[in-house]
Amino acid sequence: MLLDQFAGGGTTLIEAKLLNRNIIGVDINPQAVELCRQAVDFKFSPCGNVYIRQGNAQNLSFINNDSIDFIATHPPYANIIKYSSGLEGDLSLLNVKDFLEAMKPVAAECYRVLKKDKFCAVLMGDTRQKGCMIPMSFDVMKIFQNVGFTLKEVIIKEQHNCKATGYWKINSIKYNFLLIAHEYLFVFRK
Ligand SMILES: C[S@@+](CC[C@H](N)C(=O)[O-])C[C@H]1O[C@@H](n2cnc3c(N)ncnc32)[C@H](O)[C@@H]1O
Repeated sequence: MLLDQFAGGGTTLIEAKLLNRNIIGVDINPQAVELCRQAVDFKFSPCGNVYIRQGNAQNLSFINNDSIDFIATHPPYANIIKYSSGLEGDLSLLNVKDFLEAMKPVAAECYRVLKKDKFCAVLMGDTRQKGCMIPMSFDVMKIFQNVGFTLKEVIIKEQHNCKATGYWKINSIKYNFLLIAHEYLFVFRK
């Protein structure tokens, strides 16, 4: 059984279904839950089962300890993109400091539900504030390590569809520097 507890539009759920894997998708936002339901409403054979529910990634009490084979998830990057207006528990409404605090129970729940020796992949990005780089992805990485995960791999993924991506990409090529135009896929092992 796979898990994506920040399911959003349901990309992970679609891929799991196509790969014939069973998956649990969770999102705090009822609109996202509805989007997920529509996204996985297609026929494909053989395909995995997709279980979708509204919930908070900080408390996955409906999932047993040591029961998940793989977590692939993509939390908000603090409040860079707000996914709701005022929805209680929505981590995309939090500033960086509060977001990092809120990610502690998320990491603890990942560790609790995952089977031993299995992997948890978390996609995270950084941000800039008042012209300064805020490397919050590495803070999130440390939070996951602090709950017991070991870091198996860091995969750098090019960032798409961001306001500033074009600007940083052009300058990266021009000056032969890699600036903030990427995000990190941290792969942890329990
Ligand atoms: C970066 S998006 C996920 C995008 C997803 N990977 C996709 O392909 O569409 C983050 C999602 O986290 C959800 N979210 C925010 N706080 C949450 C929480 N406490 N528990 C579960 N989901 C939450 C938001 O509603 C949003 O849909």
